[in-house]
Amino acid sequence: MCGIIGVLSNQAVQEHLLRALKNMEYRGYDSAGICIVEGERFHCKKQKGKLNNLTQLLETSPLTGLVGIGHTRWATHGEPTEVNAHPHCSDRIAVVHNGIIENYKILKDELTEAGATFMSQTDSEVIPWLVESLLSQCDKPELAWLKVLSKLHGAYAIAALDRIQPDRIWFARKGSPLLLARNEHAMFVASDALAVAGNAEEVLYLEEGEWGHVTLDGVMVYDANGHAVKTQWQPMPDSVAEAEKGAFEHYMLKEIHEQPEVIAKIIAAYAKDDAIKFSDAEFISNTPLPQRIVMVACGTSYHAALTARYWLERYLQISVEVDVASEYRYRDPVIGPDTWLITLSQSGETADTLEALRLFKRKTPNNKALAICNVPHSSLVRESDGLIELHAGPEIGVASTKAFTAQLTVLALFSLKLSLRANAMSGDDAKGHLHALHQIVGHMISLLSDAKHLDEQLTPLFEGVYGSLYLGRGPCYPLALEGALKLKEISYLHAEGYAAGEMKHGPIALIDSNLPVIVLALKQYHLEKVISNLHEVQARGAKVILLTDMADSDMPDDVDAVVSIPTGDYFTAPLLAAIPLQLLAYYVACSKDTDVDQPRNLAKSVTVE
Ligand code: M6R
Repeated sequence: MCGIIGVLSNQAVQEHLLRALKNMEYRGYDSAGICIVEGERFHCKKQKGKLNNLTQLLETSPLTGLVGIGHTRWATHGEPTEVNAHPHCSDRIAVVHNGIIENYKILKDELTEAGATFMSQTDSEVIPWLVESLLSQCDKPELAWLKVLSKLHGAYAIAALDRIQPDRIWFARKGSPLLLARNEHAMFVASDALAVAGNAEEVLYLEEGEWGHVTLDGVMVYDANGHAVKTQWQPMPDSVAEAEKGAFEHYMLKEIHEQPEVIAKIIAAYAKDDAIKFSDAEFISNTPLPQRIVMVACGTSYHAALTARYWLERYLQISVEVDVASEYRYRDPVIGPDTWLITLSQSGETADTLEALRLFKRKTPNNKALAICNVPHSSLVRESDGLIELHAGPEIGVASTKAFTAQLTVLALFSLKLSLRANAMSGDDAKGHLHALHQIVGHMISLLSDAKHLDEQLTPLFEGVYGSLYLGRGPCYPLALEGALKLKEISYLHAEGYAAGEMKHGPIALIDSNLPVIVLALKQYHLEKVISNLHEVQARGAKVILLTDMADSDMPDDVDAVVSIPTGDYFTAPLLAAIPLQLLAYYVACSKDTDVDQPRNLAKSVTVE
């Protein structure tokens, strides 16, 4: 979603702003803009579409000012046009904003009556006019900002310039992430650490409700009541610098290929010498096991949670509820005591998942909440009782790949840990499963080395089709959902994932010779029943792609393509099957020449509901 950057330096900031916006392109956006102060005047440049358009515009007449703000916008209020692009300016104040100002209509009416002139359809444009109006009523700018923030309802991360005080950038954070960063020559305000990757040396993550200003001499941070807050800078994490595409054509392909390394990293972090330990979530070892586990997430993270339900219920025999966060947070769920919540999120900033956690904590403050997350300083992690970090490194491709298999690996370890604690699994069995996890690293490497073959074999089957169906049973059912999500996200082909047993209850009507059906048939999960479903599909003339670990001699006849994978155990089989599904989506998308890393309409981190 939208990206914010503010830079204050002793050198011209235009290049810094553009580089930061480039680094945040992966978040998804539809317009971009910057505003730089030169001689107490705002110079604002905005363009619809890709950042390149803005860069080209600035090439002919670069700006030389030492302070500026920039933004990539993912439209919520008003179309993606140049006028609606940020920054938005009043006479004196320029603002970039992430989030939604819910009471903007009332504020807009009041401000218009007082003489403000609005140009855009956005909610964000009320902010500069409100600041300007309150600055004229207060002796101190701090008092004006405190009043401004008390009047804004909704969620925001804000960076703002005052052309009369160009030695500083104002900032505020509520419900949308924001951080400060610095190096010897510059101070930064950013919505994302990646914005300043390779540029800033230290970082300060702002807490909910914090606001203030940065100058080249330092930073003033206040809490929501206006009290000064003690700040603590930290070294910029190394992982932030890892986000390079290298020799790969797309980040997504690079991230698919990183999976064996990520899985090895996770096993090394949490399962040394066959002992599973989660040091940032000690309650997993120290408190009584719960009666019930609730798992809440969105998109791909939700599919990982659905997979883990099979593992936890089978071995631990406790009740596991899984829900999409946008439903959970509004359905007044019955929680009860002795319940652990597990939220899963790559970004840790997904608005619905965060609100689901808050609801859970409000309703049952004594229950424990665990975050399984890739970003250790994210809002989700900070509000949870424990963290299992994914160690996947920055995921830039909008379509989640390595975060998914990282989530599955962590969840497999978590299931083993709990099963051991509950004496539901013997130590030897757990060792066997850990050994299988170690083994898949090698299996994944060999599957990935065959990627090009998969492209040649499968992509032609998707030429001219109107959609596709993915079928599986047991943990292959959530995998079918995930395979279908990957395909539709980046190739824009309609795709549905279905529990194979549900096929006769409706989707079978879709089947004809123009519908490729991907059948996930693994020995661990009701193989015979899935093969019966395959025959039913074949009998109706569909093109069948069989993804399986069956021996050649057992394969059904006349399938259009077979993708063979090594046999995994109950935990590792979905991890192996995920790889060809990701590659299939990737190559089909490439054949359609779509924007694989930044597919249309999508945002990497969905920070508004
Ligand atoms: O950062 P999160 O894991 O919370 O994000 C959840 C979904 O927005 C995300 O998985 C989305 O579905 C991806 N684009 C899937 O590829």
